[in-house]
Amino acid sequence: MYELVYCSVTVENIRLSDIQDILNEGRDFNSKHDITGYLLFFNNEFVQILEGEKEEVKGLLKK
Ligand SMILES: Cc1cc2nc3c(=O)[nH]c(=O)nc-3n(C[C@H](O)[C@H](O)[C@H](O)COP(=O)(O)O)c2cc1C
Repeated sequence: MYELVYCSVTVENIRLSDIQDILNEGRDFNSKHDITGYLLFFNNEFVQILEGEKEEVKGLLKK
C-alpha cells in the first residue's frame, strides 16, 4: 500500500460544480484503479490523500 498526501491551491475562484466534476471523475477513475483517499477543500486550497498500488497512485499524480 502506497500513500500520498499533497496540497494544491486554486488559481482562480473555483465553482462548486467544478469540485463536483473533480469528485465524480475522481471516484470513477479511482475505483477502477483500486485507489482510495480523501479530498478536502477549504479557503481555495485542496488537501488530498491517495492510497493504492504505488504505480497506480503515481500515475494518477501525473494526470
Ligand atoms: C484537487 C484535485 C484532485 C483530483 N483528484 C483526482 C482523483 O482523485 N482521481 C482522478 O482521477 N482525478 C482527479 N483529479 C483530476 C480531475 O478529475 C480532472 O481530470 C482534472 O482536473 C483535469 O480536468 P480537465 O480535463 O477538465 O482539464 C483531481 C483534480 C484536482 C484539481
